[in-house]
Amino acid sequence: MVALTVKLGDITQFKVDAIVNAANTTLRGGGGVDGAIHRAAGPALDLACAQLGGCPTGQARITPGFNLPAKYIIHTPGPIWVDGHHQEAELLADSYRNSLQLALSYGCQTVAFPSISTGVYHFPLERAATIAVETMFDFLGNQTTIKEVWLVAFDPVTAKVYRNKIDEFQR
Ligand code: APR
Repeated sequence: MVALTVKLGDITQFKVDAIVNAANTTLRGGGGVDGAIHRAAGPALDLACAQLGGCPTGQARITPGFNLPAKYIIHTPGPIWVDGHHQEAELLADSYRNSLQLALSYGCQTVAFPSISTGVYHFPLERAATIAVETMFDFLGNQTTIKEVWLVAFDPVTAKVYRNKIDEFQR
C-alpha cells in the first residue's frame, strides 16, 4: 500500500523526487504555490517553461527542479471552478492522474502535491480533497514505482480536510 500522507508546510522546501506545481496554462508563473515555486527554483525555471509552450488544463509537464531540493517539478493547470457543471471534477482528477503518470514515467519514488485548484481557482475544498484522494489511491494501487505521496497543505484547515478524506478512504 503506497503511503499517502498529509504534511503542513511550504512545498518548495520538500526534498522529494518530484513536487507538483498548481500552474496555469501558460506555465509562466503566477501567485500562490506557482509563484513560490518559480521564486525558489530561480529564473532557469521560467526559461525551461518558455520552451514548453504552455499546457492544457488537466495535463502535466515536467521540468528539472533547478534550485529546489526536489529533483523535478511537475506542472499541471487545475480547473478554474465555475459551478461544477463545466467538467471541473473530471479535469481535477486528470491533473492528479496525469501528474502521477508523469512522475511514474520518470521513475520518481516520492511525490509531493499541493492542494490543486483550491486557492485562486476557488475549487471547493471538500470536493477537491475527495477527488484528489480517490484519484491518487486509485492510481497508486496499480503500480509499484511510487512509494510515497505527500499532500503538502499550506494551512491547518486544508491539512485537516485532506487527513479526514484519507482516513475515510482507508476505513
Ligand atoms: N506550499 C504549499 N502549498 C501552497 C503554497 C506553498 N508554498 N503556497 C500556496 N499554497 C496552497 C494554497 O494555500 C492552496 O491551498 O496551494 C493551494 C493552491 O492554491 P493556488 O496556489 O492559488 O493554486 P490554484 O488554486 O490551483 O490556482 C492556480 O493561481 O498562482 C496562480 O499561476 C497560478 O493561475 C494559477 C492559479
